[in-house]
Amino acid sequence: MKVRKFRKEDTSKVCYFVRRNMKEILPDFYPKDVVEFLYKHETPKKFLKRGKNRIYIVVTKKKRILGIAGLEENDVKSFFVNPSYHKKGIGNLLISEIEKIAKLRKLKTLTVHSSFNAEGFYAKCGFKKIRKFANKVGPIILEGIFMEKKLNYE
Ligand SMILES: CC(C)(COP(=O)(O)OP(=O)(O)OC[C@H]1O[C@@H](n2cnc3c(N)ncnc32)[C@H](O)[C@@H]1OP(=O)(O)O)[C@@H](O)C(=O)NCCC(=O)NCCS
Repeated sequence: MKVRKFRKEDTSKVCYFVRRNMKEILPDFYPKDVVEFLYKHETPKKFLKRGKNRIYIVVTKKKRILGIAGLEENDVKSFFVNPSYHKKGIGNLLISEIEKIAKLRKLKTLTVHSSFNAEGFYAKCGFKKIRKFANKVGPIILEGIFMEKKLNYE
């Protein structure tokens, strides 16, 4: 597996597995209207628009893209692993690469607005729960857990 910077031509492949996560994982944790809204908004055009102030990295194996992660200031964004490859260490790999970028930028902490399903994953990666959040996004209220990790420079 390799980690590289996201390229514009990766967009449709990334949106494909981001949407698969929404269909296959989120329905056990979120109401139907929330899942439908998020699914509809995960189009390649909107993905690129959101990414203007973010750096994105992807994990690849041969030509397949297996996962993506973004960083905007010190907030982890758009963190998704292809559902066919969950629990194989790809999330861990993405977080450690994001931490390397954060340290190059001399950031003191990383934060994430975690979805309910991913709280356990981020906790394993060293993030601590700060509070629950509920943000109005268009017609829906998106809830989750705001988490933080202090970066260690020793
Ligand atoms: C959450 C997600 C990114 C994890 O990626 P992954 O590649 O499956 O994670 P890893 O295999 O690297 O797992 C790292 C550790 O976290 C654990 N873990 C993974 N997913 C977990 C979960 N949902 N809940 C609790 N623990 C989890 C693993 O068991 C592993 O533990 P170990 O080190 O003791 O073996 C992935 O499940 C995903 O894309 N989910 C849907 C999208 C999503 O919710 N993204 C986050 C949005 S904020």
